[in-house]
Amino acid sequence: MYEISTKDLLLWIQDTKKSNRDINDLYLLLDLIGGISKSELFFLKINSREKVFLKKNLNFLKKKWKEHIYLSKPIQYISNSSYWRNFKFEITNDVLIPRVETEQIIEIATNIISPENQDITFADLGTGSGSIAISLLAENRQWKGLATDIDMNAIYIAQKNHVKISSESNLSFFCGNWWEPLKHYAGMINLAISNPPYIPRNVYERLPSSVKDFEPKKALYGGEDGLSHIKNIISDAPKFLVKGGWLILENHFDQSKKIKNILHKYGFDSLKTINDNFGIGRFTIGRYK
Ligand SMILES: C[S@@+](CC[C@H](N)C(=O)[O-])C[C@H]1O[C@@H](n2cnc3c(N)ncnc32)[C@H](O)[C@@H]1O
Repeated sequence: MYEISTKDLLLWIQDTKKSNRDINDLYLLLDLIGGISKSELFFLKINSREKVFLKKNLNFLKKKWKEHIYLSKPIQYISNSSYWRNFKFEITNDVLIPRVETEQIIEIATNIISPENQDITFADLGTGSGSIAISLLAENRQWKGLATDIDMNAIYIAQKNHVKISSESNLSFFCGNWWEPLKHYAGMINLAISNPPYIPRNVYERLPSSVKDFEPKKALYGGEDGLSHIKNIISDAPKFLVKGGWLILENHFDQSKKIKNILHKYGFDSLKTINDNFGIGRFTIGRYK
């Protein structure tokens, strides 16, 4: 631990507030790299203790802040970590930074399953950091999870997160193209969840450099109309889901209607668009008849 002058730290925060930078990014950096949370900083202000102990010295933290500013590099990739729901996940450039709007998928999945039937096998297709599968099992301890990703490096990160966060939960990892590595589970899956790459080409090309230069293209890019992966996931779903099994997809703001049509074509009913907390039709769900 490093002993830092409280005055120097608070002055830096004050100067950043006066600049046009997002102060929440600095709070995040101080938390993820310095080891001091926003609420601890607030407490510090009131008490004005002379010294504070951080995990890194002020020069190091300022160097990382400059890296964030000049390269537009997200704090999460600088610190190799990200908060998502109740946990802190390790991340690298091989995985997407788990997004706040995706958090709701855990409630959607949990609420869709009747409390009487807890003998559930679910698949998290395109698990990335493992955030969805790990969090879902933390809330539904009797379920069994199968997490897949096309990228072996993503699988390594998800496995590390699983060991660190909840190694006792029943989660297995598979590398391969969507359902393909789950051949042994054909007709056995009660629930499948996916936040697949769904950004259409014209949107992808205009993404800010903080996203385009750092996040993996394979985690974001969904082909010309953004729907290419979603079509693959839906068309193979009937082979893997039990009758009455659910599919929950995250999608781009304007894709839900088209996704419902595809789901209908492949034998799904109970189709529904669910808004995220920002009022956007972010999730599409259907039940395999
Ligand atoms: C939008 S990210 C979602 C990551 C994580 N589930 C989350 O919500 O933060 C999409 C993930 O799908 C994976 N992916 C892309 N193409 C795939 C494919 N053909 N088969 C399986 N996974 C794929 C990517 O590597 C990436 O980890």
